[in-house]
Amino acid sequence: MKKYILFIIVLFSSGFLAIGQNSEILSSVKNVETKVDSVLALMTLEEKVGQLVQYNGSWDLTGPASNLDAKQKEENLKNGLVGSMLNVLSVEATTEAQKLVMENSRLKIPLLFGYDVIHGYTTIFPVPLAETASWDMEAAEESARIAALESAAHGVNWTFSPMIDVSRDARWGRIMEGSGEDPYLTSMVAVAKIKGYQGKDLSHPHTIAATAKHFAGYGLAEAGRDYNTVHIGENELHNTVLPPFKAAAEAGVATFMNSFNDIDGTPATGHKVLQRDILKGDWDWNGFIVSDWASISEMIDHGFARDKKHAAEIAIKAGSDMDMEGGAYETSLVQLVEESKVDEALIDDAVKRVLRVKFKMGLFEDPYRYSNAETLKNISFEDHRKASRDIAKKSIVLLKNENGLLPISSSVKNIAVIGPLANDKDSPIGNWRGQGEANSAVSVVEGIRKAVGTDVNVNYAKGADLGMGERSFLMPLKINETDTSGFAEAVEVAKNSEVVVMVLGEDAFQTGEGRSQVNIGLAGVQQELLEEIYKVNKNIILVLINGRPMEISWAAENLPAITVAWQLGTESGNAIADVLFGKYNPSGKLPVSFPRAVGQEPLYYNQKNTGRPYSDQHVTFSGYTDSPKDALYPFGFGLSYTTFEYGEPQLSAKEMNENETLEVRLSVTNTGNVAGKEIVQLYIRDLVASTTRPVKELKAFEIIELAPGETKNVQFKVDETMLQFYTANRKWESEAGEFEILTGSNSRDLKKSIFSLNN
Ligand code: BGC
Repeated sequence: MKKYILFIIVLFSSGFLAIGQNSEILSSVKNVETKVDSVLALMTLEEKVGQLVQYNGSWDLTGPASNLDAKQKEENLKNGLVGSMLNVLSVEATTEAQKLVMENSRLKIPLLFGYDVIHGYTTIFPVPLAETASWDMEAAEESARIAALESAAHGVNWTFSPMIDVSRDARWGRIMEGSGEDPYLTSMVAVAKIKGYQGKDLSHPHTIAATAKHFAGYGLAEAGRDYNTVHIGENELHNTVLPPFKAAAEAGVATFMNSFNDIDGTPATGHKVLQRDILKGDWDWNGFIVSDWASISEMIDHGFARDKKHAAEIAIKAGSDMDMEGGAYETSLVQLVEESKVDEALIDDAVKRVLRVKFKMGLFEDPYRYSNAETLKNISFEDHRKASRDIAKKSIVLLKNENGLLPISSSVKNIAVIGPLANDKDSPIGNWRGQGEANSAVSVVEGIRKAVGTDVNVNYAKGADLGMGERSFLMPLKINETDTSGFAEAVEVAKNSEVVVMVLGEDAFQTGEGRSQVNIGLAGVQQELLEEIYKVNKNIILVLINGRPMEISWAAENLPAITVAWQLGTESGNAIADVLFGKYNPSGKLPVSFPRAVGQEPLYYNQKNTGRPYSDQHVTFSGYTDSPKDALYPFGFGLSYTTFEYGEPQLSAKEMNENETLEVRLSVTNTGNVAGKEIVQLYIRDLVASTTRPVKELKAFEIIELAPGETKNVQFKVDETMLQFYTANRKWESEAGEFEILTGSNSRDLKKSIFSLNN
């Protein structure tokens, strides 16, 4: 691959500009900031604004431009008026696009190539919500590392991931794309993902830049309806929404993306307090913020900007640095500066942020660093599949297991595998599937057949269709299947089998962007099918393939065994078989509450107590008259093939001072017959505070492995920082007083101890 150098350096002493130096001279300018300043000093206003423009690249770069718009875009690239592109995929396409800039533009500032690499590029891993169910941060980092390597090998050097919007509403389709309802767990995943994508050195050709998105509040869209308004106050913003973003900023994430929603009356894209004051000010973060797709110009629809020019003015002042395919910056920013409506210093700051990332990525040394066909040749996709299977099996959550139905005994010789998703090779790939091929997952039927060999009869019947019609990222779904003609065959198969594995749930495109639903139960005739099968065989193991928490109250009440297998990616069926036959003892825990009924949404464990928490004597308390108020399966819940007994939490002291550390010790014993993994959780409740506080908040967890009969003492350290929150003083601090320490295996079944923090 030909090496390209940015031949630019400013000789400060003489103010003389030398273009045409070599890379040694360039790298001799040690400090990134000096390099950034030296490039900025060369730029015209038009070129500066160009760095803040991002184009979508889904037009044929290698062939003749298909329309005028594309031709104009190509011209703009040649003139150095574009800073980045998205959706340009492959070594050839990125090389081609980069060449337009490097061989034609005056300053030869390389492009960034962004793409939504959400849970894998070619090898597809569990969707983020599923992966979070593993609570395994090494796994989260590893899948990001692999996704980065595969992306980089295709010329993509920037992912719009991780999505770290705390999301508490199962109706919201994008809940699959995040880490669920808890700010602490989401923060941990954020850091792991960023480490995985960015590695230690952003300029390494196997790492890519990450994006913390969507800043902020997007996951709390009212009524779970995508893009909807977010009504939260300052307290909720700081205590619930911002912690994962702060963790991402501290972990050195290269970029942020703002969000489509308005928040308490201000669109996030035009939100100065969020972007300039908090992120770039208080947190002192020096990367750049890309808008969400056209979210700058969408401020017109919000009724917040009169036209594109006004939207551009609002956005740049509020701190949005790059305009993703919105056409607002490229048409208006130059004029706004010339008319003195926008201070050029704001443009300079945004451009410096973009250049800083490009320098850190080593693009000025070699703009083609990521467009190297050799990288692809050296990738072992086989190893990536192994990693995908390993992470997938860790992500499965066992919700119910009566009569020892699971793992399926080796004495079982006839297994029925029934359901519209049983032999579906596509749904497990999930939405936001990168370049994962359609129909490329191992199906459950395939996984089971492979696991049992020829010893066991695996009797498959589809039973029904999901009835989704034509499917793709943008197509609306018709979930209206009424055809029950396959039931009879499925019932026959169930009658003649000892055990029935029912594979039901969601199509890949029922979750994801724009996929909000008012119903979160089993779509189509799936529930009917399940009940028909139940009439003839009660030994049913429900395997849910899903991207969101689902309403499964009937199944929970009637079926002996339920596993949440989410959308697990490429190796889905193999990972499910590993769990069904006990090759892997399930260890996943829910990162999000499963409701009894959709009417409970938004539902989350870390809620406030209210003034009327509970009464079984009368109705005037904060609950429902037709349902218990708690989750069917709470956050942190997940069973194993063994059982664990928890001891009481023992505290090293009953009080602590601000600079002290308290130790919490508890014993956990494996009381069953097989080895198992357990995720031991620690929650804290601040009993009285200057603002109301959640009834409990996850503050630490540890994954332990225990042999049958083995006991381990788990030790947690609690320090003052873990007691901090955004107080009535509008800052992060702790307040003296009493705190509960709650330890156990999920957010509901906990043992309590109390201590106090002294003044
Ligand atoms: C989504 C973003 C995504 C962007 C680019 C938007 O519609 O909200 O999360 O990164 O598109 O594909």
